Amino acid sequence: MLKESKFKNNLVTWFNENQREMPWRETSNPYYIWLSEVMLQQTQVKTVIDYYHRFISRFPTIADLSQAHEDEVLKYWEGLGYYSRARNFHTAVKEVHDNYNDQVPNEPQTFGKLKGVGPYTQAAVMSIAFNEPLATVDGNVFRVWARLNNDTRDTKLQSTRKAFEQELQPYVEEDAGTFNQAMMELGALVCTPKTPLCLFCPVQAHCEAFENGTVHNLPVKTTKVKKKHIKQKVYIVRNQNNEILIEKRTQKLLNNMWQFPMYEADGKEDIVTDLSKEIKFDNTPVFKLKHQFTHITWDIEVFMAQEKLNQETVELSQDMVWMALEDKELFNFPVSMTKIYKFISDHC
Ligand code: ADE
Repeated sequence: MLKESKFKNNLVTWFNENQREMPWRETSNPYYIWLSEVMLQQTQVKTVIDYYHRFISRFPTIADLSQAHEDEVLKYWEGLGYYSRARNFHTAVKEVHDNYNDQVPNEPQTFGKLKGVGPYTQAAVMSIAFNEPLATVDGNVFRVWARLNNDTRDTKLQSTRKAFEQELQPYVEEDAGTFNQAMMELGALVCTPKTPLCLFCPVQAHCEAFENGTVHNLPVKTTKVKKKHIKQKVYIVRNQNNEILIEKRTQKLLNNMWQFPMYEADGKEDIVTDLSKEIKFDNTPVFKLKHQFTHITWDIEVFMAQEKLNQETVELSQDMVWMALEDKELFNFPVSMTKIYKFISDHC
């Protein structure tokens, strides 16, 4: 499946002329490049840019980040989702501080052992920061390479990832970082999932799917996991000072983040068992929303308490506190809760 040498030339020339400006493309600091790659997993470039700037101005060096408290790190991640990325990155940076004298290891094996560093992050950071000859295979690259080769193998399988990495190896022996980024950029700007711009594609002449009219059938992803839906009930309770009740999550998902009291609709626990039988809620939800995670979807219904609670008469469990509306920024809320917060402050 080796393409002729013109393929890489055409791709890289196009990339050099058309790549988007991104702040992490202006730096050679491996810590910043690493941060950008972690933020870019599951999140679009345009969202990441502001977060990236805020993060590096607060934690400009490995030493700064390694000394920070996890709650503050998560605060700078709030809204990006997939918070285990932030926790793992923080842990890995502490390892670099403690064991590698604040220098990101430039040896792929060593770097790949750090917390949260999988094959994608390893290849991306090592190739972009140190020009190590490793091929990145992310969602964009799966799509581009499957189409270029009219390859119908299931891209959800590890064996396909391994095969793609091997097939791409000859192209990363030189200028790996540029080639990898060019492939990803082509996937983001031209070889897009639904309406690829084949007529403007710099490597159309090398594309077997284009030649065969199969672009729209690729890539193949057969083992799509069906998401589990969980019905959640969220309760908005205020006290006489107009403060809102919030609780700290103890579950693994979104651990230690804050939420308005939330219970699985089919579960045994409920706010009435937890807090006070006196609280009455409207029967119809004031707001409904869906929140998607990788493997589950929360179908959330939000219920309002009919009356304000006298805070002296209820005893809060140790994970619950009253929060003044204007203090929201003092707590880490996941995106779903921020949406609910916005609804409450706009409507109630
Ligand atoms: N997606 C993730 N990392 C990227 C990069 N360095 N360039 C383009 N798209 C990306």
